[in-house]
Amino acid sequence: MSTLSVDQEPVDLYQPSSAALAAATIKNRAEQTQIAAGNLEGFWAERASEYEWFEPWEKVLDDSRAPFYQWFVGGKVNIVANCLDRHCSTWRRNKLALIWEGETGEVRTYSYHALNREVCMFANVLRSMGVHKGDRVTIYMGRVPELPVAMLACAKIGAVHSVVYGGFSVEALHERIEDSQSNVVITCDGGYMNGKIVELKKISDEAIRRAGSVEHVIVVKRTAHEVPMESGRDYWYHDLMSLPVARTASGNSRCETEVMDAEDPLFMLYTSGTTGKPKAIVHSHGGYMVGVGTTLKWVFDLKEEDRWWCAADPGWITGHSYIVYAPLLLGATSFMYEGAPTYPYPNRWWSMIEKYGINVLYAAPTAIRGLMRFGEAWPNRHDLSSLRLLGSVGEPINPEAWRWYYRVIGKERCPIMDTWWQTETGMFMITPLPETSLKPGSATFAFPGVEADIYGENGQPVGPGEEGFLVLKQPWPAMLRTIYNDPDRYVQQYWSRFPGVYFTGDSARRDSDGYFWIIGRVDDVIKVSGYRLGTAEIESALVSHAAVAEAAAIGLPHDIKGNAIHAFVILRSGAEYTDQLINELKAHVVHEIGPIANPERIEIVQQLPKTRSGKIMRRVLKARALGLPEGDLTTLEE
Ligand code: PRX
Repeated sequence: MSTLSVDQEPVDLYQPSSAALAAATIKNRAEQTQIAAGNLEGFWAERASEYEWFEPWEKVLDDSRAPFYQWFVGGKVNIVANCLDRHCSTWRRNKLALIWEGETGEVRTYSYHALNREVCMFANVLRSMGVHKGDRVTIYMGRVPELPVAMLACAKIGAVHSVVYGGFSVEALHERIEDSQSNVVITCDGGYMNGKIVELKKISDEAIRRAGSVEHVIVVKRTAHEVPMESGRDYWYHDLMSLPVARTASGNSRCETEVMDAEDPLFMLYTSGTTGKPKAIVHSHGGYMVGVGTTLKWVFDLKEEDRWWCAADPGWITGHSYIVYAPLLLGATSFMYEGAPTYPYPNRWWSMIEKYGINVLYAAPTAIRGLMRFGEAWPNRHDLSSLRLLGSVGEPINPEAWRWYYRVIGKERCPIMDTWWQTETGMFMITPLPETSLKPGSATFAFPGVEADIYGENGQPVGPGEEGFLVLKQPWPAMLRTIYNDPDRYVQQYWSRFPGVYFTGDSARRDSDGYFWIIGRVDDVIKVSGYRLGTAEIESALVSHAAVAEAAAIGLPHDIKGNAIHAFVILRSGAEYTDQLINELKAHVVHEIGPIANPERIEIVQQLPKTRSGKIMRRVLKARALGLPEGDLTTLEE
């Protein structure tokens, strides 16, 4: 480690370890960036040629309808043909695709053959229920192996999965079922989390009652506690899988993989933005496959002999791209667990790394900070020597947590890949490669073929050290294609702030060595423990309570969570402030959105700062709460 002066502040510079550099597979960023700069289409075509296509593409990138970019136009493909089918015709059919450990201690493993068989059978079940190419299927499950099975089964038959994170609750789920017009919902009777059961079926029932479009509900038995099953609508997963419909007419467990256009939608995933209504980001079969496969291979040097652990939830983009699709594309073994990092003890993670011989751990800073609290003794009890690389995602990692992760978990051997990306980007965008010299807290540089910049208000690039808006100036294959049913919002949200470039919603700066430092969101999105929530969603949950007239929510810094939700509420006349009411309001938000949206603090106020046109000025609330200058108040109402 050496020290280097950047913007007057000394910053540690961590050189890549010789072990990381020794691998012949490590890519040189500068070299690859230059290749991509000279021929972007050629660069991505070479990556795409590593996968199997039913029919080759005619054009790599079609920008004639920008910003509705199209990739690998004319190509016929199915991501599942590359995640499963192609491995099953090689020796890899016998290697582990998935290892799963439940919170209650049980372990399940799937070889590529076994996973493929389960996916084929469930795909047959879905087809028999009338699910066709292009239909949307909502998946609302705990972290169990049947979740990736359900995703892959949908993709195999060309249905579009819409996974709703199992930590969301009734209203969040209802909105997502309704917006996607799903006829089929796949759920669990319950899920284990921190020693308790999350009532997934009960929440589904209430959400489905509010939504009305759902014809079939498939329920995976996980906890075996009593749940009501509605006759003619609800079916147990294990019952369906034992029926003849799970098999072909000749009785075998195969299923034909649907031939898709490269641009056909693979999935939609709801994420929070500036308005109250979450938007469904749409990803495609072809470009997404090439983007996630390439980035996992290059950033984590992931090889088929590796055991990879992405500790996210499959219900978020991190899990879609890097628990399910990318590791399977590479023929690696993906590890997945149910539960929480600190239950039953704060060594759960470290014991699993030792037990399963994990080679790469990819986790969120909030989890690292949470585990750091318990001290070094917990990880030091375990043999972590199988680790080769570490990763970070979801929010900026503070240098203190970075150094702890590097020293205590990686034993100063494992480089940390701090990957900046979004639901919308599908794949890592700003990230080190194993050969990159690292600065704790910086996501370093753009991935080859990705052009990132920082703009000022006027749309001009800012100088070194200056803060501005992070933008992406060139399309990339795993980019979102649109917002489901709302193409105008896609254009308006991402491509209008600075015409022709993609607006990320983040602020950042670049130091004099060109390293990117992500600062945070500039819109009404709050990252709580790395989870993305919209202030408007929290506010609308609050005002749906009978005692609340108006509400405003902001994020304030929090040691472990990164940000915590603070809400300001104006009560309806007749409602009275009591501690009990505050607790009731918090419980109401949890019931409507989920535990991740639980406000840290709710304050009853008489007034909210608003513009003359009636918009709540959240930045003023935030400045006041932090004791900072309130800035320009000319638009503030009298
Ligand atoms: O603010 C950035 C932050 O997470 C946002 C995207 O959130 P989401 O769509 O939920 O995807 C999270 C997982 C990819 C970004 O706009 N973010 C993500 N990764 C980082 C980050 N902030 C700083 N450093 C990162 N590595």
